[in-house]
Amino acid sequence: METVKTILALETSCDETAAAVVDNGRRVRSSIVSSQVDLHARFGGVVPEIASRAHVDLIGPVIADALGEAALELRDVDAVAACHGPGLAGALLVGVSAAKALALVADIPYVGVNHLEAHLYAAWLDEPDLEPPLAVLIASGGHTLLVVVEEHDDDTGGRYRVVGQTVDDAAGEAFDKVARFLGLGYPGGPAVDALARKGDPEAIPFPRAMPGETDFSFSGLKTAVVNHVQRNPGDAVADVAASFQAAVGDQLAGKLAVAADEAGATALVLGGGVAANSALRERVAADAAAAGRRAFLPAPALCTDNAAMIGAAAWWRLRSDGPTPLDAGIDPVLGLA
Ligand code: KG4
Ligand code: ZN
Repeated sequence: METVKTILALETSCDETAAAVVDNGRRVRSSIVSSQVDLHARFGGVVPEIASRAHVDLIGPVIADALGEAALELRDVDAVAACHGPGLAGALLVGVSAAKALALVADIPYVGVNHLEAHLYAAWLDEPDLEPPLAVLIASGGHTLLVVVEEHDDDTGGRYRVVGQTVDDAAGEAFDKVARFLGLGYPGGPAVDALARKGDPEAIPFPRAMPGETDFSFSGLKTAVVNHVQRNPGDAVADVAASFQAAVGDQLAGKLAVAADEAGATALVLGGGVAANSALRERVAADAAAAGRRAFLPAPALCTDNAAMIGAAAWWRLRSDGPTPLDAGIDPVLGLA
């Protein structure tokens, strides 16, 4: 696998159609993300059938843009990768089928990539020399995971273990549900983040759930927000948003710190769409500084769904496991081992 340098990567697991060209798992030569948000907004969430059809329309032009921006043609690419799960089945099939077709035509390896592992690898794109042990929080619309990366090197890839996860809703799901309840629209995370800047995070003492030491829970918090607003209809929505966001951030950052202490981590790392949250980023940066650790917070565009992270994860997977067979399928409920 020594010769594999340039990977064309595709991401179509949800409502972003994305393609990127990444060298050596670290250098992003191009990253194109075509968001379908406008198509789904009036339904208040992602409609799977609409997502699949939009991916079919967009994947060709998005791949052409990614190659064009990198000033490459398919024959210059060494491997093609696609996210093969978790995600919406019909949506995943579009990216995986396109990647396999390109791999077949160009006679180069295909690599199926786990979306959650890709969120983990986004940090390497901003900081190529991350030194384990690392405590990583992956918080997205469907998952909330605490991961400890114990080892990592270019030849064998990473050795990591999941040390905590949500017992009910994912953090991003909580943002989306609370935003919908507050009438802030879809997607909820960015809307809550923006409004919270105008509010007081200490206005309302929402509960800080503490299930297991490193597990998360957000459904009680969501109910507390609903109950509070129904009982106090006059409260400023910005204060509700800021107080809710602070409660989510407290839980996420607090447990990341617990995992870091237990693992003796040298750094805190964020990944996933919720890692784009400005208050969470400030909080994790401050926690790291106070504990004498480094903080690696990928740029917001690398936190939300993109294909550059798929290209990063694919490079290590290819080195450690080799190509994925062309008859391998998708796995909508794939987890992080
Ligand atoms: O990783 P991602 O783009 O897609 C999934 O894999 O799910 O994450 C999307 C989630 C959504 O729930 C969205 O509301 C949330 O990330 N999100 C945010 C922010 N930007 C996106 N949540 C809080 N603050 C943000 N700035
Ligand atoms: Zn994601």
